[in-house]
Amino acid sequence: MSKRVRTAVFPVAGLGTRFLPATKAMPKEMLTVVDRPLIQYAVDEAREAGIEHFVFVTGRNKGVIEDHFDRQFELETTLEVRGKTAALHELQKDLPSAGRTSFTRQQEPLGLGHAVWCARDIVGDNPFALLLPDMLFKGEPGVLKQMMDAYEETGGNIIAVEEVPHDEVSSYGVIGRGEGPDNSFKLTEMVEKPKKEDAPSNLIISGRYILQPEIFSLLAEQTKGAGGEIQLTDAMQNLMHQQNFTGVKYVGKSFDCGSKIGFLTANVVYALERDDIRPGFIRELSKLDLEEQL
Ligand code: G1P
Repeated sequence: MSKRVRTAVFPVAGLGTRFLPATKAMPKEMLTVVDRPLIQYAVDEAREAGIEHFVFVTGRNKGVIEDHFDRQFELETTLEVRGKTAALHELQKDLPSAGRTSFTRQQEPLGLGHAVWCARDIVGDNPFALLLPDMLFKGEPGVLKQMMDAYEETGGNIIAVEEVPHDEVSSYGVIGRGEGPDNSFKLTEMVEKPKKEDAPSNLIISGRYILQPEIFSLLAEQTKGAGGEIQLTDAMQNLMHQQNFTGVKYVGKSFDCGSKIGFLTANVVYALERDDIRPGFIRELSKLDLEEQL
């Protein structure tokens, strides 16, 4: 039987240059979709999948992420005194248990592969999940849970993939698909940010991974790849010579919240799904005469 996945790593050191000036003093992972920060969605998804230990690879100016996952006594006391018990319970429910978070820093922005490598001592010799919080997924069950189900069957390494238009592949890691059904197929290759004509398919690596600890020794080589960065995809391609990689074409919808369009779309979709917001939001939107603008 495969070793259980108990730990998840969240790389949150990125500078968020695409969202300046919003991200000058605030981490991009704290940008909200409706009223929850992006990082909270990723943590919720991990928790739903059975993750017990949450490891954040942060950087300078990211201290507020650590605060977000801590108690806030002044706030909690005020909510209690004011009788706002529902809000108080919501806040407490979102917190990982005491001692179940770890924080380490990526000291230089050398790429995703380097950020993951920074978590090596905390993760140790265990399989782990990796969630890129920019990518927000709507799925039932969540995407990581769908991957965990595949992992229970196959073990090894699991990558969530999705189809994108051929014109967009060069913005992502792209996989070659081997045999098997959509919820569990063999991967034959991976390439980071290929030119459209070199891409093995239009199936992209979509920001959720389950990886075996052997990835760390490959990342330790610190070879630079696409964009001059240490790429996780290159290390995974190397690990593929020794271990199986399984693709899961997840069921659900993704929002690339690293882009303004994806982020704004996510806000609209999530707001329209909220019973407490939908009626008022639709009323205001209908006043905008959107058809005129479209
Ligand atoms: C990273 C990965 C890439 C993946 C993408 C998903 O790229 O390197 O393989 O497809 O996330 O969002 P980045 O967005 O950091 O350039």
